[in-house]
Amino acid sequence: MNNDHVSTDETPSGNGPYRHDESDGGHRFSSRFAFVLVAIGAAVGLGNVWKFPYLAGENGGALFVLLYLVFLVAIALPILIAEVLIGRRGHVSPPHALMRQAAEFTGRTGRGWYVIGIAGLFFGLVIMSFYSVVSGWTFDYMWTGVTQGFGAFDPDHSRGHLAALQASVPRLLAMQGLFILLTVTIVALGVRRGIEAAMRWMMPVMGVLMIGLVAYALITGASGRALSYLFSPDWSKLTVPVAAAALGQAFFTLSVGLGGMMTYGAYLPDRASIVRACTTVALTDTMVALLAGLAIFPIVFAEGLDPAGGPGLIFVTLPVAFAGMPGGDLFGVTFFAFLFLAAITSAIALYEPVIAWLEERGIRRLHGTLIAAGSSWLLGIVTVLSFNFWKDIHPLAWAGERFAAATPFMAITLGLDNLVLPVGALLIAWFAGRLLPEPAVVEQLSADPRRVARLFRLAVRWWAPIGIGALLVFNLTGITAG
Ligand code: TRP
Repeated sequence: MNNDHVSTDETPSGNGPYRHDESDGGHRFSSRFAFVLVAIGAAVGLGNVWKFPYLAGENGGALFVLLYLVFLVAIALPILIAEVLIGRRGHVSPPHALMRQAAEFTGRTGRGWYVIGIAGLFFGLVIMSFYSVVSGWTFDYMWTGVTQGFGAFDPDHSRGHLAALQASVPRLLAMQGLFILLTVTIVALGVRRGIEAAMRWMMPVMGVLMIGLVAYALITGASGRALSYLFSPDWSKLTVPVAAAALGQAFFTLSVGLGGMMTYGAYLPDRASIVRACTTVALTDTMVALLAGLAIFPIVFAEGLDPAGGPGLIFVTLPVAFAGMPGGDLFGVTFFAFLFLAAITSAIALYEPVIAWLEERGIRRLHGTLIAAGSSWLLGIVTVLSFNFWKDIHPLAWAGERFAAATPFMAITLGLDNLVLPVGALLIAWFAGRLLPEPAVVEQLSADPRRVARLFRLAVRWWAPIGIGALLVFNLTGITAG
């Protein structure tokens, strides 16, 4: 029915980000490849290198890692497929894609889904608020490497360095602003092609850097302890909060739950396999996260650092490794530079749906970009202050011991992982599994064997919602009871 809707003419705004003329007939391969590249760019970022290790550390290691892997494959991957599928049917920004298809199949207006889509965009800006601050740290560390080198970074110095950065509001705001500025420059120029081109060489280099770092950590660090910490689960540690954290991180790392990946679904030519493309993205993303864990924990244990040290974990740990290794300054600078770039490609994916939506509403691309950037910068002030003036404010203290020490910044990330992303994923599963009729889904998955479509339907109709719903209920009742 819509086999030819990849053509530019049918997209609602001829000058928007959906003008993806490269995805018509003749260039199918390069375009599926383009999707995989930008989707990996969106998925791989601070979530893998910064958030995954500190969450694994805070949640006791291997059991968290195992649950994360299971949830990633069984729940987050089907949700990713669902988002891309909805996006490819729609070819518009998430709110419009949801609204139009809801109207098409329910006979109602789809306004409710429109509002849900907008909520997704808003929470994308909320992610961006802290994402930009932490990305700023990576820039600051790169700069430290360039100007001073990492030679002086023993564990004490390293902790002190991070504390000094976190105490300085002007420095945090400047670095965050720099990150946002660089990101919006790229977005405003609309240089998607530039990003794709950059991704082509960035990914291999990033891979080589990560493998080098892992090799160094395993050879010189406490590798035995790190390996058993990461891969030998202690089932007695199984609790609802650990499982909920693992599920939230599985969503976060694949960039799903807010509808953002719908924006990239339009990239995929109609006959390309969504399942295969999404699986490639998930595999790459997981590899990066596991490599980050393997690079960090041998150093953590060798240097007597605290695995449960929280969001500063990689910033305290990695410079200590750079201090010890030959050529560590160059290596460290390159590493932080690449982490910064990986964060930019994710940030672009957080802004793009907002800007696309504003564009469809008649707001110029430049203005939309400024609105998105400005609001995320303002929201980011909450994160900036959480590390200094507001560090003793605990907005979730009412929710029991587990969240008693959470600063406003941590409340935001916990709220996203434990509530917003799971609820968003439930809604997306509902949309793909129950609102879209089976033929529409089967048509989108026609590049794959029939049983893949059947498995996908089972996932979004049954086991994903049941798994997410059960965890949500247990987790939230646990909070209110605590
Ligand atoms: N997945 C990204 C990372 O791991 C961050 C992210 C979360 C994201 N949700 C998103 C990116 C939505 C783009 C869209 O760093």
